[in-house]
Amino acid sequence: MKPAISGLTKVLGIIGSPLSHSLSPLMHNAALDALGLDYVYVPFPVSPDRLGEAIQGLKSLGIVGFNVTIPHKSAIIPYLDRLSPEAELAGAVNTVNREGDLLVGYNTDGAGLLVSLKEDLAFEPGGAKVLILGAGGAARGALAALGNGGAVSITVANRNREKANELIGHFAGVFNKIEFHSISLEVLSSAEHLQRFDLVINTTSVGMDNTSFNGFSGSSIKGVSASFYDMVYAPPITPFLELARIHGCGTANGLGMLAAQGEIAFSHWTGLAPPGGLMKSCLLTAVKGN
Ligand code: ATR
Repeated sequence: MKPAISGLTKVLGIIGSPLSHSLSPLMHNAALDALGLDYVYVPFPVSPDRLGEAIQGLKSLGIVGFNVTIPHKSAIIPYLDRLSPEAELAGAVNTVNREGDLLVGYNTDGAGLLVSLKEDLAFEPGGAKVLILGAGGAARGALAALGNGGAVSITVANRNREKANELIGHFAGVFNKIEFHSISLEVLSSAEHLQRFDLVINTTSVGMDNTSFNGFSGSSIKGVSASFYDMVYAPPITPFLELARIHGCGTANGLGMLAAQGEIAFSHWTGLAPPGGLMKSCLLTAVKGN
């Protein structure tokens, strides 16, 4: 059991907006409780116009570490003292650790994605051809991790093509052996196109509230052997995953990634690994209960 909150309790947390649906407080407090650590993990809703003030305040209040989520993952960078190589490469931070008097930014999303791809889809990025849907912060983390993991070809499909071009322009300068393409989301309407990929990852918010991609239908997935990963985890089976699943493709949602990035963040803050599988089982229970 975690000790009662006292003057010695260390504070962890998450900043983002909105945070009402975040499952991070649940899984981190469960892990702190299981290890009997005198910490508490608190949600701090922060609007974009108050980000600078919030970081200053957290620093003054002696926060030990915190997670960063939508929409601050890239915007926070100027307020940090140092970045890990992964955060620098992705241009996105999801975990901050106080080291002495410095705030150091990490990106544990990319490593979390690779863990989940391996555990949930038996997928290894080495030699793979990947299609990433979306070109925001989540796509950046995925691209950096898959590039480091040895993917040979990465295609980015985004509603706003210019953003996809910018993203691949940035990463083409970093990974000069990877073949990069940008394409419109209409790629999802064509089995001929989809056949070229080993993995399709949705990094957009499409699928929350059961929304689906225009044009993605049974005919566009016929004969396709790619695996499909959706970073969305609520609902646990989005229309995107459901369609892939009924056509026999491997599928997984983002719960595994959420748990794995959380485990790595927890170790940065406490120096300890949370009990194996605890975070994921908390998340599974929470999602089932909704
Ligand atoms: P995050 O940090 O979570 O990636 P973001 O930076 O706001 O969030 O990026 C959101 C991504 O989801 C973008 O790629 C966005 O596409 P646009 O760049 O065209 O805006 C994509 N997205 C959001 N809603 C979408 C929708 N209804 N259809 C298609 N793409 C959508």
